[in-house]
Amino acid sequence: MAVERLGVRFARIDPVTGKAFYLETFGCQMNAHDSEKVVGTLLAKGYNQVETPEAADLVLYNTCSIRDKAEQKVFNRLQNFKRAAGKNKVFGVLGCVAQQEGEKIFDRAPHVSLVAGSASYTRLPEMLVQLEAGNRRVTGLSLDTDETFDTPFTRRDNPHRAYITIIEGCDKSCAYCVVPFTRGPERSRTSESVMAEARRLAESGYSEIQLLGQNVNSYRDPSPAGWDFATLLARTAEVPGIRRVRYTTSHPRDFTKAIVDAMDANPVICNHVHLPVQSGSSRMLAAMQRLYTRDQYIERIAWIKNARRNMALTTDIIVGFPGETEADFEETLQLLDEVQYDSLFSFKYSPRPNTAALGMDDKIPDEEKTRRLMILNEKQRAIQIRRNTELIGGVEEVLVEGRHEALGQWIGRTSQNRTLNFTHPDAGGASLLGQYIDVRVTRSGPNSLAGESAANVV
Ligand code: 5AD
Ligand code: SF4
Repeated sequence: MAVERLGVRFARIDPVTGKAFYLETFGCQMNAHDSEKVVGTLLAKGYNQVETPEAADLVLYNTCSIRDKAEQKVFNRLQNFKRAAGKNKVFGVLGCVAQQEGEKIFDRAPHVSLVAGSASYTRLPEMLVQLEAGNRRVTGLSLDTDETFDTPFTRRDNPHRAYITIIEGCDKSCAYCVVPFTRGPERSRTSESVMAEARRLAESGYSEIQLLGQNVNSYRDPSPAGWDFATLLARTAEVPGIRRVRYTTSHPRDFTKAIVDAMDANPVICNHVHLPVQSGSSRMLAAMQRLYTRDQYIERIAWIKNARRNMALTTDIIVGFPGETEADFEETLQLLDEVQYDSLFSFKYSPRPNTAALGMDDKIPDEEKTRRLMILNEKQRAIQIRRNTELIGGVEEVLVEGRHEALGQWIGRTSQNRTLNFTHPDAGGASLLGQYIDVRVTRSGPNSLAGESAANVV
């Protein structure tokens, strides 16, 4: 019986239901997808997934260290469960904090038994064997680049939209960013392997795929076919059954006109580009080691705006990077006016271990970062209110992703990546989840749209 092999740490486990694990995920889509691989692997090993850490024998946190706040979250979680640790629970820290802090985590949280970074998840089965044998210090921290991208055990969270990793790691060295240290150097997956996964997903009913990487634009097929990202994007959009292809995230330096051309040529590729700018000041961009100027960024924006299709544009901005003056910040505000983003993610600069910016002088006080963040967000909110109002009266195709039972509304997502909540004559009846529906926009807010099924409107 399975339970006999398990050793003391799992001695209380019900032999019928097997071993129970709980997994909480922080951070980006790469982490969300990694968690799907971890869950798939654990299920294949006979574990059950449970909803609370209390009900679990194995408690895992897949962590993010992009900003200090994200990193602190996991230590708070671990602190909360310190006392429960004596009661046969095994704790594991996975992901970016694991990679960054390594074995130091065992000192800071002695009840943790497993510390593993994302490049080591293919070794998870053998790490589980060690844990089950009672080993209290199991690590997977090598950033060896020979890991496989194949994910036979992936348990996807969403039945309609699937992530596909196309490139791991990052070779840039942005002065603020911890990712090259937590996810290692760039490794592209072969186009054959990506295409095979896309076909498999389409065959099993997925209609939307999202190509993932820290910098998808620097994708380079390692096989003789030698596809670049634009080619890979175009080909995945031709897979029968795939109705939407998205990709994230882009680095402006490697973003080519060929990508816009591929998007223009095939409406299966969603008309949304997320192009993180970080700052509107060329002086700040140089200090951040972003490898492009404001003018070069604007040139890429022009390609996107001059496309035949109407592309949505979103970005990431950091305020309060060391040395950022009021004039630099003003340039970022002007960039918002100039580009008219559909949405943006804004962050206060957070010093990270190992990064070049850590040693930079001229730190910006936290209150000043907060002030700049508020001004930025206020400006962007006004832009979004105006842009979303312009969509009223139009018809948008949505993929139905959820339902607000209390409001009697379906939750849809447009190709431009806007949330569009809508009513439908069948609202009480058959499920529309996973369907593509034309919706007429009737109302708008800063962050979403509302409407009714276009079939319902004469
Ligand atoms: N401080 C604040 N924001 C950061 N980001 C990355 N590193 C930091 C940091 N040290 C932001 C960038 C990036 C997004 C994912 O997170 O804007 O594009
Ligand atoms: Fe967080 Fe970056 Fe790691 Fe994603 S890659 S989990 S954003 S630190």
